[in-house]
Amino acid sequence: MLHSAVVNVMIKAVHRAGRSLKRDLGEVEQLQVSVKGPANFVTAADRRAEEIVYEELAKARPDYGFLGEEGGVRDGNDKTHRWIVDPLDGTTNFLHGIPHFAVSIALERSGAIVAAVTYNPANDELFVAERGKGAFLNDQRIRVAARRTLSEAIVGCGLPHYGRGDLKESRKEIAAAQQNFAGLRRYGAATLDLAWVAAGRLDAYWERDLSPWDIAAGVLLVREAGGFVTDIDGGEAFLAKGQVVAGNETMHRELTRLLREAGREATAA
Ligand code: IPD
Ligand code: CA
Ligand code: CA
Repeated sequence: MLHSAVVNVMIKAVHRAGRSLKRDLGEVEQLQVSVKGPANFVTAADRRAEEIVYEELAKARPDYGFLGEEGGVRDGNDKTHRWIVDPLDGTTNFLHGIPHFAVSIALERSGAIVAAVTYNPANDELFVAERGKGAFLNDQRIRVAARRTLSEAIVGCGLPHYGRGDLKESRKEIAAAQQNFAGLRRYGAATLDLAWVAAGRLDAYWERDLSPWDIAAGVLLVREAGGFVTDIDGGEAFLAKGQVVAGNETMHRELTRLLREAGREATAA
């Protein structure tokens, strides 16, 4: 598979950061048994991964802006291009030694995401998409699932973390989804949830209270795989609102409808 020069830069960056995280995962597994636990070590691993990504991207495109979860905004001279980076998506999984996490990079050009790379170093799965050129998993073309029957569909979701989010609303949404779909999954790495929708593993996915770096790459992956992504109101403000609904046309439409109904019930109750 021939990628454009800029995508090759992104791939090099996620591979390097991924190698660092994979080495650190070994250490995290050891630290599970220590009284202090691996929390501080994981924070350092996360920052290390972001620095590696930044270094690789800045080397190749020194003028682009950069938005990273750990380091925040680093302005560039080129105001039309910006990297959006989550160096470690699925931190809680990583902290617990669960091999489901990813390095995620999106490239935004004049406000639109034009390239996306998401890499899970634990199983060496690399998801790549470029606007207009399709989505790929380890160089194989991927498509969203074709399933149209809700009662046969598997749907990924997020759950509010301890002490966060709107539990009432979340429970209504989960209940609505449980009553209509075959099964729900909560894997804990938003960028991989979206990548898995793109690969047809999950039929749909929704989550609230996310940040731009959780979503940016995955949105392009899903769209380039033939899927639909919006915010929960059906609009394009997913990055600003930090929420996504994704799936094929039917799953996306039906899930959005169910979530809106659940939202109305939660406010009425
Ligand atoms: C988190 C993961 C998780 C989602 C959280 C995100 P992080 O990102 O994507 O799946 O439920 O809301 O914050 O903190 O692991 O980078
Ligand atoms: Ca994240
Ligand atoms: Ca993160």
